[in-house]
Order: sequence, then structure tokens, then C-alpha cells
Amino acid sequence: MVKITYHGHSAFEIKSGNHNIIIDPFLEGNKHAKIRPSDVKANYIILTHAHGDHLGSAFDIAKKNGATVIAVNELADYAAEKGCKAHNMHIGGGYNFPFGRVKFTIAHHGSSSPDGRYMGEPAGVIITINGKNIYHAGDTGLFLDMKLIGEMTSLDVALVPIGDNFTMGIDDAVKAVEFLNPKLSVPMHYNTFGIIEADPNEFKRKVESIGKKCIIIPFGESIEV
Ligand code: NI
Ligand code: MN
Repeated sequence: MVKITYHGHSAFEIKSGNHNIIIDPFLEGNKHAKIRPSDVKANYIILTHAHGDHLGSAFDIAKKNGATVIAVNELADYAAEKGCKAHNMHIGGGYNFPFGRVKFTIAHHGSSSPDGRYMGEPAGVIITINGKNIYHAGDTGLFLDMKLIGEMTSLDVALVPIGDNFTMGIDDAVKAVEFLNPKLSVPMHYNTFGIIEADPNEFKRKVESIGKKCIIIPFGESIEV
């Protein structure tokens, strides 16, 4: 069993047994987050890219917990420079960690640090833990290779941005679900700021209309898969 907790925006915790992973821990300044960075207990922190609304408090959480930051090379180097343990990876590469496997995928977006440095390519990530394959799309526009991701890996859960403006909007995200063909889709990256307002119920209705399953995880709540 794998527990997935949603902290709003693109921040998710994934727990299985003793393994606690947090993805894109933007908690401070995230009006939907019900926990503070100091509440987080994590062994690993996975970052899709370095924008402030994804990097969040990753480095503070990493140092406090002695957790390892997993990211693409440039961002992992930046984490190490800031005093964190880091594991450098890159797009297309997978690695078997104690909790399971992490593989980075493409994402069509940008990635720079809050101080304006180039942070490599943005990414999506497939996490395999306790027999479940969870895809976090990161920030991205729609791309046809999502079909390949879904063909190569039987996805249990796909976490997809729906907020438009910086990422896919609802209709593109529904197409993404069609391409990815996951057992379950979950919307993210919406309603944190005015410019990314989107109705997750509209996404859910449209996903269900193509015969796929969707769960809107309420902020601060969890599902088990
Ligand atoms: Ni971004
Ligand atoms: Mn973002």
C-alpha cells in the first residue's frame, strides 16, 4: 500500500513502510498547505524543477531530515552547493533507491533557481514504490511522448497539472490522461494563485467522459493506492 498526500499546488508526499518521499515541497506561501516545512519527515525529496513554487523549502527540509535531494544534474549540484545530500540524475535515466525506482521524463517548461541561475531541464518523474507506478508530470505543456510514457510503464497514478497559463489547462490535461492511460488521474497545480484558477470538477467530469478514473484529493488529505 502506498499513501499519497496532497499539500496543494504540486506538493505530494508519498509514504510506504518506512519510506517518506516528498515531491516539490512548496509549503511556505502555498495557501493550501496545511503543514509547515518543519513538520515534514522525509528521507528523500524529489524535485521536478527549480522554480520557487516547486523548490519551496526543499533545502531546509533536506538538511533538517538528512534527506537526499533527487533531481536533474544541474539542480542536484545546486542542492549540494546549498549543503544538501543530493543524487544527480537526468532525463531518461532511472535509478533504484532503497524505496524503489525513480525515472525522470521530459517536461516542456523552464527551470531556473530563485536567484536566476540555469537549473538544467525541467522534468517529470515516474516513481515506482511498493509495486505502484506514480507519474508526477511536473510543470509541462501537453506532449505526444506521454503516450510513450504510458506504453512503457503501466501507470497506477498520474498527477497532472490543470491550471493553464504556465502548464496544461484542463482540456490538454484530459488529453494527457488519454495518452498516459493511468488507472487513476489526480489534478494538481491549480487555484494556488489567481492566474492558475481552474475547476478540478470540470477536469474530473471530462476525464470520466473518456472512460478514465479521476480523484480530486482535497488539500491536506490522502489516498491509498
Ligand atoms: Ni515551473
Ligand atoms: Mn509551477
